Amino acid sequence: MSAHNIAVIGGDGIGTEVVEAGVRVLEALATVQPDLSFAFKRFDWGSDYYRRNGRMMPEDGLAQIAGADAIYFGAVGDPNLPDDITLWGLRLAICQGFDQFANVRPTRLLPGLVGPLRPELGQQIDWVIVRENSEGEYAGVGGRAHRGLPIEVGMDVAVFTRTGIERIARFACDLASGRPRKLLTVVTKSNAQRHGMVLWDEVVREVIRDYPDLTVDWMLVDAMTQRMVNKPGSIDTVLATNLHADILSDLAAALGGSLGIGSTANIDPSRHRPSMFEPIHGSAFDIMGKGIANPLGSFWTASLMLEHLGEPQAARTLMNAIEVVTSRREHLSPDLGGSANTAEVTDAIIAALKGDNS
Ligand code: IPM
Ligand code: MG
Repeated sequence: MSAHNIAVIGGDGIGTEVVEAGVRVLEALATVQPDLSFAFKRFDWGSDYYRRNGRMMPEDGLAQIAGADAIYFGAVGDPNLPDDITLWGLRLAICQGFDQFANVRPTRLLPGLVGPLRPELGQQIDWVIVRENSEGEYAGVGGRAHRGLPIEVGMDVAVFTRTGIERIARFACDLASGRPRKLLTVVTKSNAQRHGMVLWDEVVREVIRDYPDLTVDWMLVDAMTQRMVNKPGSIDTVLATNLHADILSDLAAALGGSLGIGSTANIDPSRHRPSMFEPIHGSAFDIMGKGIANPLGSFWTASLMLEHLGEPQAARTLMNAIEVVTSRREHLSPDLGGSANTAEVTDAIIAALKGDNS
């Protein structure tokens, strides 16, 4: 048995709190599943590191974590630093540097949780959003000129490449094919954006020809928001561009009960470089240091990480424990209508893990 090497980057705000809670849970999981073990290595990168060193991570940061089996990430963002510095200096630098082009975001209304939709609609939510994670509106291409002058200009160029679209479309088709409903919704905005988005549609159409068993439908992103609210049961796997999926996944998380439970995987499907797993909630500075952050998003993403590491049994055990805790409703954090703090939720999950296996 060899230990899974995990690079742990808590980052900013509540990131470290929820990731350390996740490390506790993974260690507990390793005690109930004897063939499972982890070697965690922590990296103190983030905004405090920036204040000390003038960069979000060391110059050879990527090389330091390139050998890890996975990266377990908290959050990045600081009220006293510009967001574009903190994000591009750490999280996006890792996603792009390791070409983690597939971002996967599952959403379900977990048992016991109440979302904003009527219960009969909310219970239909069982989605996976596949977000293109390397180009599109987040390519970082563009520029500023004529600073301070009336003719000042700022441009972000949305970059769509045949290769980029094809690989994410194939990833989404494979993922959708592995789910019972074999249903894929492709999101676009090719009525208004007539170059990149039209290429997106064309290339996706070519790829889906190789997947005759999939049912595929197409949605403009604005109409998709309505469908998610009004007909959640008509959706299963969603493929969308970087920005569209960013927005849709916040809506998904809210409909699933709370941003606090949203989880995500940034995957390099070639497995040449480590993939990165994180909760989607961000650094939440307003509650930092209070010990009340909801750690369920970081636990759910730990379950995604276990799947990626080839530990499906452990992934299921952890997900079951999360569902046991949500369905009992005794240890929920304030964002889910409870009063439990981070440590209490974590203890409840660990107790459930142990119960699951005894
Ligand atoms: C997310 C976040 C990030 C994104 C931010 C923090 C840059 O909103 O993971 O969804 O937009 O990608
Ligand atoms: Mg987002």
